[in-house]
Amino acid sequence: MSNSNTIFGWVLASGIVALGLSSISGKFFHADKPHVEEFGYVIEAAEEGATAEAGPSLAELLQTGTAAAGEAVFAKCTACHTIDQGGADGIGPNLYGVLGTGIGQHAAGYAYSSALADKGGTWDYEAMDAWLTSPRAFANGTKMSFAGLSSAEDRANVILYLRDHGGGPDLPEVVVEEAAADEGEEAGEGVEAEVVEAVAEEDADAADNIEG
Ligand code: HEC
Repeated sequence: MSNSNTIFGWVLASGIVALGLSSISGKFFHADKPHVEEFGYVIEAAEEGATAEAGPSLAELLQTGTAAAGEAVFAKCTACHTIDQGGADGIGPNLYGVLGTGIGQHAAGYAYSSALADKGGTWDYEAMDAWLTSPRAFANGTKMSFAGLSSAEDRANVILYLRDHGGGPDLPEVVVEEAAADEGEEAGEGVEAEVVEAVAEEDADAADNIEG
């Protein structure tokens, strides 16, 4: 009996201590609030930085990618598309020479959705990259029931594969000056460094090829 009274006593005492602590920590938290907000801001800034450095641009990927790598990606498209010159339309239109043509106009006998046929513009590299990222976001109501390619490298490579079959506009140049003007000197230097690095890598590749 006296034992359980002691336990009860301890429980009561610890409850009181806990109450006391919680009111102290309440004050502590309150006093600390400005720091918490500052911390939140720091995280936000870090996230912005991460977005600004989100990988190489489409122009860079089109320089560093290959049609051969794109052929493997195109395996995801062959259920619906042919790519060879004069190939038949399937569920989707034949894609030979599609780059540079009018969006939703390229295959004369094919019945495009109005979502795509009325989109306007031509299949330049930016448009093709946006389309392959998410067909539905690009042309809401399209009948291309394909979720899209989430990898920017895959998109660039498959675009190079399309370009290898029927050509397309000149590849976009990697413009360093423009990026520097947009993002300020510091970011510009970063881009420059990246491009130099990419060129150095290409040289190394080229050297490998000569040796091999
Ligand atoms: C499930 C079938 C299907 C798959 C898979 C598919 N497509 Fe399509 N694609 C279509 C259809 C259908 C259209 C016509 C869309 C419309 O009219 O809205 C189309 C249209 C296109 C067009 C526009 C052609 C033009 O003449 O304007 C391109 C480019 C294209 N697809 C590329 C691809 C690529 C690249 C892949 C693989 C990464 C792919 N598609 C995968 C069905 C598919």
